[in-house]
Amino acid sequence: MKNFPTRTKGAGWARCRLIGRTFGLAGILVLATSLLGAREVSNFNADWRFDRFGPMPDGSERAEPTGLEAPSFDDAGWRKLNLPHDWGIEGPFREDLPNRTGKLPWAGIGWYRKSFELSDEDVGKRIYIDFDGAMSDSTVYLNGEKVGGWPYGYASFRIELTDAVNFGGENVIAVRLDNKPESSRWYPGGGIYRNVRLVKTNPVHVDHWGVYITTPEISAESAEVKIETEVRGSDDGVEVVHEVIETGVKSSGANSTLIIANPKLWDLESPNLYTLKTQVMRKGVVVDTVETTFGIRTIEYKPEGFFLNGEKVFMKGVCQHHDLGPLGAAINTRAIERQIEILKEMGCNAIRTAHNPPAPELLDLCDRMGILVQDEAFDVWGRGKAENDYSRFFPEWHEKDLRAMIKRDRNHPSVVMWSTGNEIKEQNNKAGIAVSQRLTDIVHDEDPTRPVSAGCNNEKSGFNGFQKTQDVFGYNYKAKENARVYKQFIERNPDIPLYGSETASCVSSRGEYFFPVVDEKDQGNGGYFQVSSYDLAAPPWAYKPDVEFEALDRFPQIFGEFVWTGFDYIGEPTPYNKDTTNLLNFTDPVEREKMRKELEKLGGNIPPRSSYFGIVDLCGFPKDRFYLYQARWRPDLPMAHILPHWNWEERIGKVTPVHVYTSGDEAELFLNGESLGRRKMGEFEYRLRWDDVVYEPGVLKVVAYKNGKPWADAVMKTTGEASKLSLSVDRDVINPDGQDLAFVTVQVSDKKGQMVPRSHNSVEYTIDGPGEIIAVGNGDPTNHESFQATKRKVFNGLALVVIRSKAGERGKIRLTAKSQGLKSEKIVVLAK
Ligand code: GAL
Repeated sequence: MKNFPTRTKGAGWARCRLIGRTFGLAGILVLATSLLGAREVSNFNADWRFDRFGPMPDGSERAEPTGLEAPSFDDAGWRKLNLPHDWGIEGPFREDLPNRTGKLPWAGIGWYRKSFELSDEDVGKRIYIDFDGAMSDSTVYLNGEKVGGWPYGYASFRIELTDAVNFGGENVIAVRLDNKPESSRWYPGGGIYRNVRLVKTNPVHVDHWGVYITTPEISAESAEVKIETEVRGSDDGVEVVHEVIETGVKSSGANSTLIIANPKLWDLESPNLYTLKTQVMRKGVVVDTVETTFGIRTIEYKPEGFFLNGEKVFMKGVCQHHDLGPLGAAINTRAIERQIEILKEMGCNAIRTAHNPPAPELLDLCDRMGILVQDEAFDVWGRGKAENDYSRFFPEWHEKDLRAMIKRDRNHPSVVMWSTGNEIKEQNNKAGIAVSQRLTDIVHDEDPTRPVSAGCNNEKSGFNGFQKTQDVFGYNYKAKENARVYKQFIERNPDIPLYGSETASCVSSRGEYFFPVVDEKDQGNGGYFQVSSYDLAAPPWAYKPDVEFEALDRFPQIFGEFVWTGFDYIGEPTPYNKDTTNLLNFTDPVEREKMRKELEKLGGNIPPRSSYFGIVDLCGFPKDRFYLYQARWRPDLPMAHILPHWNWEERIGKVTPVHVYTSGDEAELFLNGESLGRRKMGEFEYRLRWDDVVYEPGVLKVVAYKNGKPWADAVMKTTGEASKLSLSVDRDVINPDGQDLAFVTVQVSDKKGQMVPRSHNSVEYTIDGPGEIIAVGNGDPTNHESFQATKRKVFNGLALVVIRSKAGERGKIRLTAKSQGLKSEKIVVLAK
């Protein structure tokens, strides 16, 4: 039995690392220039200059000159911008660029430069720059001197600048990034796409990610909070004190324990958080203060399931790539929060950060919003999947990257497991098993309180010894054949908790339906590059959601599933990938060959540039599948959903199947008032189907029942002609901080305000007031219009406009949407 309550493991706790030198004289300076007990952390995102070289967005090549790091280099001609910045999302989409990475020009060399002053008063301080992520292979220069760098574009890292800074004058920081083509299986983005901070500390200070909090003993009456602190520049006169802000409880010592009485536990409904204030004192004077958020909760993994605070919780999970749709890879907290809100509405309670460490903001949000997280390190180890991927760096960097991820993220109560990799090619051989064990040991060394896992696509890895390197075992896509592989695994590894690390991989385009409806083989309609939304289609290694549901119902000890994917993402437009990505999913040579032929048939340049896997499209609009998962994941919510839409003027008299997703167990369908029959959900059935409905325009109505009693109903009507635009916004008041966003849904409606499902009108947007349009989109995976524009076609009735506030400017932001032949509409968002 694998048990990760929170009991501490002996050896780990003896550690208190006091790093660095003793600062005798400098210590006196500390007192003189003390930062008044605190470090100074400043947002370092504003006012950078940017230019790019190598492969350019228009397909040309631009030579990279030397000397760009020199302080004397004149960067006045470079573009001025604020971070976070993703140069790839600026486009344009290009036919000749690979589909699987989004047909966007993210490859290339980017340079960023920024000048800043440091005053004389900073002499004696330690100066650091913290990058939450820079894509990729960064080299950082200060005043012309190389001060560091980090290859992995998803890693957070700190660089010390102290020895190269010019106190009392100007400093120039320059960052070179190098994105090689063929370095990713999906759209990675390019640039300093996450936040950057400048940190000034006294010489004696808490090290980077230097506070580690665990809660080894928890009862209703009390929680033991263990703290390990790493202090840099420490000497004999240094003392460390801690205080839990919410309760006032204190402790003293770098390694110490304190007790919280009547702890408020962190759980999914009430994600209670505490803040620990850590102060470093030197000779009685506070020289550093840091605050760390933590939660009190127990996690246990047993063969019969996952337990949070002693209660069995099924992980209703989704895999999520890092991009934010039309906003690209550039991190925005509100955009992530909106994604989580939408996922929670569906009933999702867990996210797997496929296949890399996420932005730290995602974990803060999951802490606050009550979401479980599997934090994943890598998509490859030493054997690559794309020519220039991370496998180039793995031998030298894997340990640094893994430790960085765990040290950064191990105080988050939301993080409940670590993953060392996804579909790692080394799953099958002895050497790979040894690598896996080594990675697991590294993780345990940094954090013995959470299990280690990986996403395994190879059936054999559950039996060949690889599974023994895992604390909990994740299979990708193994629910088929009546869950044969799950069954075998459970029989042969009764002590290893099991879950579906990647499931379904159903594909669909929002609002597209093709006929006849063919179960399991419905791969779309070829040339048109959309995939039918009856939620039956999946690539050959995968299956419709219902198949996983059945497997999970057969084996209730499986502790969760992580659906591929929650949101659509840029890149990997399977089944229209036109590259070899898909082949990786087959270990069976016959299947691989079959897929190779399929891809060959597609030939030529094909337009798709983003995925069809999402339950929710690239803009955050739910596809039909959303309601299939909602029906299962929120069984107490009375709901029913009908598909397809009912505007089929060319299908009058033709068979047009109707499917209903409901949290009820039975339903009756009516067409224009006439019953088409009452159907009950059988064992291992998850949708109700009326496969022989003959289309006539009008009203479809479903009445769902649960335990024989009316439970929910829904209607789907044939709409009138498109006549007007309707706008709605997720929040009509936003913060005037230059970061906050309003997401405006643009809908083509008939006279009654009903969405016209097959409309594709072009819409133009104008804005006035203290806001700007930063992105537009519509969820069509084949669309090559720019995301950074003021016009956008709707796709099957809907489009999205993203408005950002302007820093420090308050007032009414007015967005107007116009489209030829339709009545225009305005919406007001208040920045206050
Ligand atoms: C998996 C892989 C994912 C994604 C998915 C598509 O095999 O782990 O990254 O490629 O297939 O179905």
